[in-house]
Amino acid sequence: MELHARHRHAREPVTLMTATQAGVVALTIPQDAVFIGGQWEKVPGESIAVVNPANGAVMGRVPNADAATGARAMAAARTALDDWSARPPAERADFLDALADALEAHGEQLARLASSEIGMPLAESRAVQASLPAKVLRSTAEIARTFAFESRDASGSTITREAVGVVLGITPWNFPVHQIIAKLAPALAAGCTLVLKPAELTPLNAVFIARLCEEVSLPPGVVNLVTGTGAETGEALVRGGGYDLVSFTGSLKIGRHIGAVAGEQVVRATLELGGKSPAVVLDDADLEAAVRTTVKNCFTNAGQKCNAPTRLLVPEARRAEAVAIATEAANAYVLGDPLEDGTTMGPLASPVQRDKVLGFLEAARAEGATVNGGDLVDPNGLFVRPAIVTDVAEDATVVREEVFGPVLVVLGHSGEDDAVRLANDSEYGLSAEVWSGDEARAARLARRIKAGQVRVNGVRTPPLPISPFGGYKRSGLGREMGPFALEEFLEVKAILGDPVPS
Ligand code: NAI
Ligand code: MG
Repeated sequence: MELHARHRHAREPVTLMTATQAGVVALTIPQDAVFIGGQWEKVPGESIAVVNPANGAVMGRVPNADAATGARAMAAARTALDDWSARPPAERADFLDALADALEAHGEQLARLASSEIGMPLAESRAVQASLPAKVLRSTAEIARTFAFESRDASGSTITREAVGVVLGITPWNFPVHQIIAKLAPALAAGCTLVLKPAELTPLNAVFIARLCEEVSLPPGVVNLVTGTGAETGEALVRGGGYDLVSFTGSLKIGRHIGAVAGEQVVRATLELGGKSPAVVLDDADLEAAVRTTVKNCFTNAGQKCNAPTRLLVPEARRAEAVAIATEAANAYVLGDPLEDGTTMGPLASPVQRDKVLGFLEAARAEGATVNGGDLVDPNGLFVRPAIVTDVAEDATVVREEVFGPVLVVLGHSGEDDAVRLANDSEYGLSAEVWSGDEARAARLARRIKAGQVRVNGVRTPPLPISPFGGYKRSGLGREMGPFALEEFLEVKAILGDPVPS
């Protein structure tokens, strides 16, 4: 498969073509318009350049939409709500399946586009920007087909679950396609309509998704796309109201702000925020396997991953050994063009992200830590070699704060209770990994960790992506994926004395 991207002038549509066995599939995405009520609406004036972090090239542009444009999108979603929410769930599910088909048909283009926007190695991008979102759409469709939207309680009342209404979805740049679909699929399945504001760093894949919604003839206004910066477009949307639920993924700082504004309006906010996830290795675990898997999971997408296991907790007696294994594994990463075969780590997503990561490493060194790796490869570029950090105090900044880069901290523990104490000593609680040679011991340990998802002995995400994902503590509010995600988008009604029970 080969992809050609043609984009000469700043605001010309970008045409992406993939040569597949079925022939050339082309999809043109506009660069000067937002998607409102099923129409591409040109937005004059200022636009945002989308930069490929691997080479600094401008890949395209999107509008920086103003408050009035955002309000029109919100109104279009409101207009579409009655019809969409009244359709049978199976009909809404059919649209999700159609979108999954379209996404798969264009999966290679989408994976390459997203890789170029974020800097994620293509193999990772194929898995999480194309394959996974299609599976999420299909599994959500299946859940919607069998979900009990009406039931009877023990008192004889009918309980109905209805769409909460218009959803404002605000998404980040690190796994952009997945993060959009993780909101879109359950929201639409529930009967909600959506206004999506994707990250300004990676908006082209969102434009692509809106084009796919158009291709499958999703009714106008069910999905609306408004591009722009967080401070302008995002802030105007959040403050402008008109939505019944805001679903946000991103930083703790902005999530807290959005939750506060939603609270003032008494609308729901679901927040998927950061993490400082532990990988807890007990004395009876296979240390080598635990360390290698942790390194791999920590450095996916150059560590720009909210559930990355960034704190490796090993028996103190074996810390030096663990650091040596981790350092060797880190040194084996091949940094380069994300689209090239053999590249295992791309650039960081932006200069801001690079400076943030380097700042954390500098602070760690100043606090006396040992830092293996972590060098900036090219003084003007965004490639930072993965770093293993150790000899660091429990309360050091690099141990407590989310770095969002290729930085793994190794700490020693004195036994199971101490490991649990360290694992839970964080304001975050998104995910965790536990390692033990004794399965029953690992299972007990998993129950002691304060996190929304715990992986035992390196288990990978199952092929059916329906297990709930979300945070304890400041990692967020609410859950994504599977039936729990659907429930987030539903309002509950009790009908007492209902003469027509379902
Ligand atoms: P961010 O939280 O600023 O941005 C996420 C989304 O929120 C983007 O679409 C952005 O445009 C929007 N946004 C920003 N300010 C807003 C506002 N006032 N009102 C409405 N929407 C607004 O995240 P950013 O700046 O991209 O990354 C900063 C840090 O956040 C990262 O270094 C990382 O630590 C963390 N982060 C965590 C993510 C996660 O998956 N939990 C994802 C991305 C970033
Ligand atoms: Mg929570």
